[in-house]
This record gives sequence, C-alpha cells and structure tokens, in this order.
Amino acid sequence: MVRSASRGWVRSAVKLTNKNVLITGANAGLGYETALDFAERDARVIIACRDESKAAAAKEQIQKATGSQKIFTRRLDLSSFSSIRQFSEDFNRTEDRLDILINNAGIMKHPQAKTEDGFEMHFGVNHLGPFLLTNLLLDIMKTNKGGRIVNVSSIVNYLGRIKWSDLNWEKRRYSPMGAYNASKLMNVLFTRELANRIRGLGITTNSIHPGVVNTTLNRTGGQDLSIMGRLTDFIFNQNFLTISPKQGAQCQIYAAIAPELQNVSGKYFSGCRKLPVGFWNATSSKSAARLWKISEELTGLKS
Ligand SMILES: NC(=O)c1ccc[n+]([C@@H]2O[C@H](COP(=O)([O-])OP(=O)(O)OC[C@H]3O[C@@H](n4cnc5c(N)ncnc54)[C@H](OP(=O)(O)O)[C@@H]3O)[C@@H](O)[C@H]2O)c1
Repeated sequence: MVRSASRGWVRSAVKLTNKNVLITGANAGLGYETALDFAERDARVIIACRDESKAAAAKEQIQKATGSQKIFTRRLDLSSFSSIRQFSEDFNRTEDRLDILINNAGIMKHPQAKTEDGFEMHFGVNHLGPFLLTNLLLDIMKTNKGGRIVNVSSIVNYLGRIKWSDLNWEKRRYSPMGAYNASKLMNVLFTRELANRIRGLGITTNSIHPGVVNTTLNRTGGQDLSIMGRLTDFIFNQNFLTISPKQGAQCQIYAAIAPELQNVSGKYFSGCRKLPVGFWNATSSKSAARLWKISEELTGLKS
C-alpha cells in the first residue's frame, strides 16, 4: 500500500467522521495539535486534561480554528488512580464507542515527588496512569473494529533502564532524566505486551517518538546536572534545534489514521516511519511481560 506520509508529514486526507477520539494532555503541545488535526478531520474529539480551565481554553481555540462543534472536555489526572477510575467509569457510561486513544500526556525531568498513590511521579504519570486508563477503556474500544491506541514514547527509551527492585527511586540517588527515560522505555514495553494481548480483537497499538519538539515539556522545574540533563536543557532552549508542535504531532496522527497501518501493531515509529524498537532493553519480551504483571498489581487491576 502507498505510504500516506512523506518527509515526516501526514499527507492523507482521511476523514474521521463518526469516529470518537480521546487524547490525554490535549490542552498543550503535541496533544493540542493532534486534537486540532482530528477536529479538522471531522472527528468527535474528547480532550482529557487535569486542569479544567486549560481544557476549556483549548476547546474554545480549536472550535474557533476549525468551526467544529464536536469538541468535548473531561477531567483526568494521571497522577491519581481514583481520577483515572472515575474518568473511565464516566466515559464508559456516557460514550458509546472509542475509536482512537492517544496516550499523549506526560511529564519530563520532574523534581522528585510521588503521585497520590505513592509512586514516583514519572513512573506514575507516564506509565502506570496510561496503563490503567487503557485497560479500563479496552472493552468500549472492542465494540467496534479498527480501534487504534497510540502511546507517545520518546527516543530516550533507548537510554532507559528499569531497576525492578527500585521502581520508585527510594534506594538510590534520584535522577529526573533517569526516571523519565525509564518511563519512556516502559511506554514501548507496554505497547509490545498490549499488542500481544489485544491481537484478534480488532484493535492495534503502536508507540512513537515525536521528534524534539518546542513545547512546555521541559518546564517542570526539575534540575538534572547529568550530561543528559544539561543536553536536554540546551536543546529545549535553542528553538532552532527543535521542531514545531504541529510538526511534532505528525507521527502520532500518522499512527492513528494511516490506512497502511491498519493491521500493524506493537511497533515503534518516528518521522512517520517504522523504526527498530530500540536495544535489548526494549525488545525483551520477558521485561514486557514482567512490567505488565507488576503494573496490574500496582494499579489494582489484578490483586
Ligand atoms: N516535546 C518533546 O520534545 C517530546 C519528545 C519526546 C516525547 N515527548 C512526549 O510527548 C508527550 C507530550 O508532551 P509535550 O511535549 O506536548 O509536552 P507539554 O506541552 O508539556 O504537554 C504535556 C501535557 O501533559 C499534561 N499532563 C501532565 N501531567 C499530567 C497529569 N498528571 N494528568 C493529566 N495530564 C497531565 C499537561 O497538562 P498541564 O498543561 O496541565 O501541565 C499537558 O497537557 C509526552 O508524553 C512527552 O513525553 C515529547
């Protein structure tokens, strides 16, 4: 099949009429641009954000730009299991379908902190939260064939190391970048294991790296004096080294709508192209299964 993207840009005019899409963290950056694109494609777009006033502002802006009357906001805080459970319960009760889920929201280089449920912040917000959310929305996704789940990871998954005996960074010196890199590796492992588990259900899942994008991601106030931390600060402070949020959003849009990816699952994309998933750490089926089992226990999906 012909590729529907070139030079990192989606060229497809695919419409999403009658499709229900959910994007986490869609009030800013990549999530906002993705919501805008989907609205232009006539989707019914639900933007899930932790801050209701930011969500309302984004909705108004998207409505103004596209004329769409099909933008809806819902409150979702990925650092709280009770918020995720409440969100999913309301969603499953009031919506009748879910065609595209973009697990986009994330934090980077956060100062050391715990989520409401006591997990290291990157581990909780970037991995455990989307893990729980996705699992709680699988049933509604299954009701229609062709559903797609896109997990927004990062190229730093290549550097990710998971210390299984200290997932919450309690037994070693905290590294904001180390915690972020590990959480982005988890996004890739989660995607691989999820793809295995949903095979045959008519749903696919892929993970992506958006590029280095000029967004607010590097503004959580965490200090990381490692080479990686300093390099990240340097790159995010030089506009010419980053791409625009609109360009950065292309890969997640591609993974969500490209006709040629209809049956592609468990893969990793960047620049709207399939790339090797990473090194041994990202390709280990044992690690993917182990992470799934631990996550099920920690989120209370399985006790
Ligand atoms: N920018 C890059 O260069 C880059 C590179 C690789 C990967 N990524 C990934 O791309 C994704 C989007 O990041 P971005 O660059 O667009 O950053 P961004 O502009 O900072 O957007 C992040 C979004 O996530 C939301 N969020 C943060 N914590 C949350 C929570 N606890 N519950 C719900 N929502 C929460 C933010 O909400 P608030 O506005 O309320 O904070 C915001 O809407 C992230 O997963 C990131 O890891 C980005």
